[in-house]
Amino acid sequence: MADLSTKFTGIRFENPFLLSSAPPTESDSNIMRAFDAGWAGVVTKTIGLHPVVNVKGPKTKFLRADNSGYRLSMSKRAESTLIASWNWELISDKPLDWWIGKLSRIKKAYPNKVLVASIMAGSGNDKELHNWQTLTKACQDEGADAVELNFSCPHMDRVDMGSNVGKDKVLCSVVTQAVKEVATIPVWVKLTPATADIVEEAAASFRGGADAISSSNTFPSLPVIDPNTLDFEMNVEGYVSSGGLGGPAILPLSLAKMAQMTKAFPDKAFSGIGGVANFDHALCYILLGCGTVQVCTAAMLDQAIGPNVIKGLIAGMTEFMERRGYKSLEDFQGIRRDRIVSHSQIKRPEQFDYRGGYEAEEVEGYARPLARV
Ligand SMILES: Cc1cc2nc3c(=O)[nH]c(=O)nc-3n(C[C@H](O)[C@H](O)[C@H](O)COP(=O)(O)O)c2cc1C
Repeated sequence: MADLSTKFTGIRFENPFLLSSAPPTESDSNIMRAFDAGWAGVVTKTIGLHPVVNVKGPKTKFLRADNSGYRLSMSKRAESTLIASWNWELISDKPLDWWIGKLSRIKKAYPNKVLVASIMAGSGNDKELHNWQTLTKACQDEGADAVELNFSCPHMDRVDMGSNVGKDKVLCSVVTQAVKEVATIPVWVKLTPATADIVEEAAASFRGGADAISSSNTFPSLPVIDPNTLDFEMNVEGYVSSGGLGGPAILPLSLAKMAQMTKAFPDKAFSGIGGVANFDHALCYILLGCGTVQVCTAAMLDQAIGPNVIKGLIAGMTEFMERRGYKSLEDFQGIRRDRIVSHSQIKRPEQFDYRGGYEAEEVEGYARPLARV
């Protein structure tokens, strides 16, 4: 029998699948429904201390392509296929006090499920660093199994929060370190994919003491413009602001970010997120070295918490392991990480004399060949 259970940052999971921090985990009732449906863990909607007021109007819409043709639109229609979610929702608009009591009740009712609290504060001064510590202590006192630091929300209303932390290596280290000073539970860091080299922010977070990196959050993006009205398909009184793209469209983008990190830190723990709707997608992250996988968009579109998504993930993983004779996730975790190489290492046709893009030797009258890298 295939054993789907795994240990990740010292925590036992009955299977490697979690709901990510987003609407599916915005309330105690959703979280408990998710556990009943089979999710091994959840990351709560991000909890903060500052006041949160969302925009006037829808916070999330879904971009679909016509099945015959290239029309992309957020209008809900038959004969179309999901391409992505687009959202500009802020973190939980419920204050910490609302979550206190509920987190502990969830954990008492589901002691074998994993409850990760996503948290966020500012980073502009010592008071804000203290706020990270306040949130960490409050959540661990409630029985949370881990905290996930949100350094990744691409559309915060404050410049010292969310992906603005994740874009600054020094802040990644400083905030993680401040949290580690008070944390008695594992600390996961959720990084933004919107930087030039995510390995640098991952390195900084590990230097600060992070136990794991989660990636990706949504990618910064705009809704498309309706060619008839010339309005963005999502707007408030005609205006739009950068929001986050999730769902199928980001799976390959997110895999690329994840691969950079798992190759750079093969011994560290990673939680893969982005575009997962079925087991084939989740498998990509595991083969790159991830120990757990998180889901948002597909779950939102499946009765808000993804009962069919988790059934499919568990059935797919069980069938895959039994067919291949794998006993545990560790048997195949990371086995495709080393297949990603630099372009110059990819084989060329034999009849050509290939030297990685450089001349063989100095040719009189021409510049000297550059050193190989
Ligand atoms: C409506 C919405 C709200 C989200 N809110 C949060 C949040 O509060 N904190 C967070 O870390 N990520 C948040 N996310 C990002 C998701 O957790 C996830 O990283 C992202 O959607 C990519 O996964 P997916 O392709 O499965 O949707 C949100 C995503 C959506 C669509």
